[in-house]
Amino acid sequence: MAIVEKRRKAGSSRTTQHSASASTKVLPLRERTLNFGDKWDYAPSPEDNKSFPIAPRHELFIGGKFVAPRARRYFDSINPATEEKLTEIAHADGRDVAAATAAARTAYEKVWSPMSGRERGKYLYRIARIIQERSRELAVLETMDGGKPIKESRDIDLPLVAAHFFYYAGWADKLKYAFPGRSPRPLGVAGQIIPWNFPLLMAAWKIAPALACGNTVVLKPAETTSITAMRLAQIFQEAELPPGVVNIVTGAGETGAALVQQRGIDKIAFTGSTEVGKLIAKSVAERGADAPRLTLELGGKAANIVFEDAAIDQAIEGIIAGIYFNQGHVCCAGSRLFVQEGIYKTVIRKLRDRIQTMRVGNPLDKNTDIGAINSATQLKKIRALVQSGVDEGAHLEQTRCRLPAKGYWYPPTFLTNVTASHRVAQEEIFGPVLSVMTFRTPEEAFERANNTPYGLSAGVWTDKGSKIFKMAQKLRAGVVWANTFNKFDPTSPFGGYKESGFGREGGLQGLSAYCRLE
Ligand code: NAI
Ligand code: MG
Repeated sequence: MAIVEKRRKAGSSRTTQHSASASTKVLPLRERTLNFGDKWDYAPSPEDNKSFPIAPRHELFIGGKFVAPRARRYFDSINPATEEKLTEIAHADGRDVAAATAAARTAYEKVWSPMSGRERGKYLYRIARIIQERSRELAVLETMDGGKPIKESRDIDLPLVAAHFFYYAGWADKLKYAFPGRSPRPLGVAGQIIPWNFPLLMAAWKIAPALACGNTVVLKPAETTSITAMRLAQIFQEAELPPGVVNIVTGAGETGAALVQQRGIDKIAFTGSTEVGKLIAKSVAERGADAPRLTLELGGKAANIVFEDAAIDQAIEGIIAGIYFNQGHVCCAGSRLFVQEGIYKTVIRKLRDRIQTMRVGNPLDKNTDIGAINSATQLKKIRALVQSGVDEGAHLEQTRCRLPAKGYWYPPTFLTNVTASHRVAQEEIFGPVLSVMTFRTPEEAFERANNTPYGLSAGVWTDKGSKIFKMAQKLRAGVVWANTFNKFDPTSPFGGYKESGFGREGGLQGLSAYCRLE
């Protein structure tokens, strides 16, 4: 703050290193500053919705071309922060899915699988570089379509998207070293279904390893966030990726179901709700010998465990990053907080103070901490679950910030007086809502943390390395963060236990999901 104030007095329009852009028209300060009344004023970022025009209609991407859906059906994609319509998105049906699969099959047989790994790697590097060049555009669109704060899409999502393509580009010509003594072969055509919480990042997680191994792809983005996937299609064209190597079919759940049912798909990779994951597992199992391979990355109810010997202020920041990142639209969000009894009062006091400083509002403003909830449906679900918590006896703590009149918003919230049987302690809320509980001993901590149908991630906060190792061994979670939370890297595998799914994405492990080892 002090720095911002000082610079402003000096008449500079710069607030951080990210805000300056040669092309930005500098307006007088008074006009540029949003007034948040009870808070301090910041200068807004140069990103705005005028810089990157969005076409009024988006078609399907099949065989390297943008084509209209057979049924000529379209649906609206809206900005959840303003409720304004951004564009129309094509609704693919079974015939479109079949056409996309046929294009992927041809590309697989004729071009992509016979190509050397070295050549495939070159395309992936090229895609990664174009993503970097266009990252500002992609970040702004991601924020407008999905509601996440620009500082996250710009500084977290987009760098990771490019990093995933770079990382798997590096593996493309080294697959035989990835599996010593074995010969990895591609599986064929991969059908990939992704959710709306990290639209581009989930696309990168799925597409990059599949292509590196020599597979071709039919991707189905989530219905509320298709715009950046279609920009990615433009990037594939710009990179001259051979037609049919990646095909994108937009639409809702029925399009996803058609993809799962489609003959000629060799592998299904899904990220989304446990509910839909179970449906997919069932429908794949019923196919018998003809069934595609399957990996599922589903919900979570991660425990963030804070011991008395932890650096408390650091832990508070980790708790905040764990649950309020991306409005809590994170499958590995630290949505259950377990605090050791001796520090409970201190942690609650600090948490209460800290959430008061969080800014909720315009996701395109670079100072925003919490953007818009992705859809009206999701907001309804969050409200209903929080209400169930209150009805079951939990105590509600929320910030007193004013929420914008239009759009879908939910303030940072935590619930105390929660017991293990409450729905808010059991079910995935997928919103900025934390359920706080206490524990006395490490044994109690991991037993309570493991007491959930999920097992995707967990966090441990302590000064003692030995305690970290003990907890990491006992926690049934695919990822255990120690004295940090929600940190991702393409080299590191990610995936769950139990109802959080099976299979790993990222790292060397992420390759084996797309290879047959001979
Ligand atoms: P969802 O699981 O319905 O959607 C994820 C993707 O699956 C979307 O692309 C959707 O179109 C597709 N899909 C939906 N029904 C399908 C079907 N029968 N067959 C094939 N594909 C299908 O998730 P939704 O409804 O958007 O969110 C509901 C809840 O799921 C959230 O409140 C949250 O708790 C959880 N969720 C978890 C995610 C995660 O990353 N683990 C991501 C998104 C949602
Ligand atoms: Mg759904």
